[in-house]
Amino acid sequence: MTRVLVAPSILAADFGRLAEETRRMEQAGADWIHLDVMDGHFVPNLTIGPQVVQALRSVTKLPLDAHLMIENPEKYVPVFVQAGADRVTVHAEAVSDLGTIVRQIRGLGAKAGVALRPQTGWEVLKPCLEELDLALLMTVNPGFGGQSFMPEVLPKIEALRKVYGGHIQVDGGINDKTAASTRSAGADVMVVGTFLFRSADPQKAIASVRGE
Ligand code: DX5
Ligand code: ZN
Repeated sequence: MTRVLVAPSILAADFGRLAEETRRMEQAGADWIHLDVMDGHFVPNLTIGPQVVQALRSVTKLPLDAHLMIENPEKYVPVFVQAGADRVTVHAEAVSDLGTIVRQIRGLGAKAGVALRPQTGWEVLKPCLEELDLALLMTVNPGFGGQSFMPEVLPKIEALRKVYGGHIQVDGGINDKTAASTRSAGADVMVVGTFLFRSADPQKAIASVRGE
């Protein structure tokens, strides 16, 4: 069986103590660190840029997983890779040619992901499935942490899993219970923000999301 990976979303961390919060998640058994980049255009919120990625690069050995919720992501992919992102995920809704940007990311030596809003069908991934390292199926509308999981995305996870053997990542409203339904549907990478950072015992919370 595929090992389930957990990627804490530092959007839910205490931003005054980001380094400490990141180390706390590494010690608790996190697999990747998920970084939510928002530009105030693609989504109605502003968060972090490459400087924060660079700062965290020296704090942890874990892969840095950058989720770009921005317009014209092709302009910014190089600076995020240079800042230390090991994985870069862009939104299909922000890109006209998925194959080109997937090859751009891989050409820079990073793993390439494509994210879909809850309303976007998985079929848009068809032209680039062969080259894709990760498909991110959003389980909330991108823009903010702390929202409720949308179970209507589950059939999309199942349908994609039938045709795709790479990582299927879910993001938004993931906790011990909602994670179980996404794992059964075929997801193997769980982004977890609020549930994990609010937990008194992050190690236990990570294990529960993995289904252990
Ligand atoms: C939402 C972000 C998510 C979010 C997850 O646009 O992509 O990564 O921070 O946070 P929770 O787990 O609180 O929904
Ligand atoms: Zn995210």
